[in-house]
Amino acid sequence: EVPVVHTIEEMRAFVRAQRASGERIGLVPTMGALHAGHLSLVEAARRHADRVIATVFVNPTQFGPNEDFARYPRTLAADREKLESVAADLVFAPAVEEMYPQGFCTTVSLDGPAKADLEDRFRPAHFAGVATVVAKLLNQAQADVAVFGEKDYQQLLVIRALARDLDIPTRILGSATLRDPDGLAMSSRNVYLSAEDRARAPALHRAMSVAARRIAEGTAIRLVMAEAREAVAAAGFEIDYVEARHAETLASVAAPSDGPIRILAAARLGATRLIDNVAVP
Ligand code: PAJ
Repeated sequence: EVPVVHTIEEMRAFVRAQRASGERIGLVPTMGALHAGHLSLVEAARRHADRVIATVFVNPTQFGPNEDFARYPRTLAADREKLESVAADLVFAPAVEEMYPQGFCTTVSLDGPAKADLEDRFRPAHFAGVATVVAKLLNQAQADVAVFGEKDYQQLLVIRALARDLDIPTRILGSATLRDPDGLAMSSRNVYLSAEDRARAPALHRAMSVAARRIAEGTAIRLVMAEAREAVAAAGFEIDYVEARHAETLASVAAPSDGPIRILAAARLGATRLIDNVAVP
């Protein structure tokens, strides 16, 4: 069975021992409720490291006051079995008090991709919470590589900037989004969808894929994005944003010549908020 440790000291002892025998370490931070998308990150980490540590921590500081922190699914026993099935070497599952003991008072402050008027507009304190916990996890593990999903595309750019700007030596790798056969991006939050909403959900990715193809074919971005928003709304979503942005800076783009383009969206079906993104080829 893959060992589960709950303290920073135990994880560091594991890393020290592996390092001493020359093994490269890979880190895969998660909040648990694992699905095949998370497991694909473990497999990606394995391609760049000899030992893979998965972390399971539902980080309270990245949830807003009206978000789902309390009801976020916590399934450590099942997560451990799944991690076992992909041959993870260690599970680090700290308690909240281990990560945020009495007196904790430091938070990372962000700009650049964290201030892009996308997720940050709807979840104002979210990326400060993410960046702070990820900085802690990266410093705790001192891994050679850490793998994050493109599913959370803005988050991936925020973490790349964090590691670069704070000189965290761990190499940050992005890994492709895993989808259900109908195109819906796998997410721990998909379990919240009613059967009816689950049937509607693939329309988000479908509209984004159509938009990406039409932009690549040369149709005007403004027109394509207006049509994409219409299609998403027609499928029953309440839209937070559906935007075409520069894939590296998240700056607005008016034409394909403005750089590599990523289409990013967040939209709600009932109380469930879905996010997704696709590259313009
Ligand atoms: P969580 O939502 O559990 O996601 C953990 C990692 O899995 C993230 O890097 C995310 O982008 C990736 N992921 C989620 N769904 C995916 C999919 N369908 N395909 C590929 N990768 C996918 O993101 C977080 O947790 C937290 O913010 C965290 C970084 C752990 C900090 O608390």
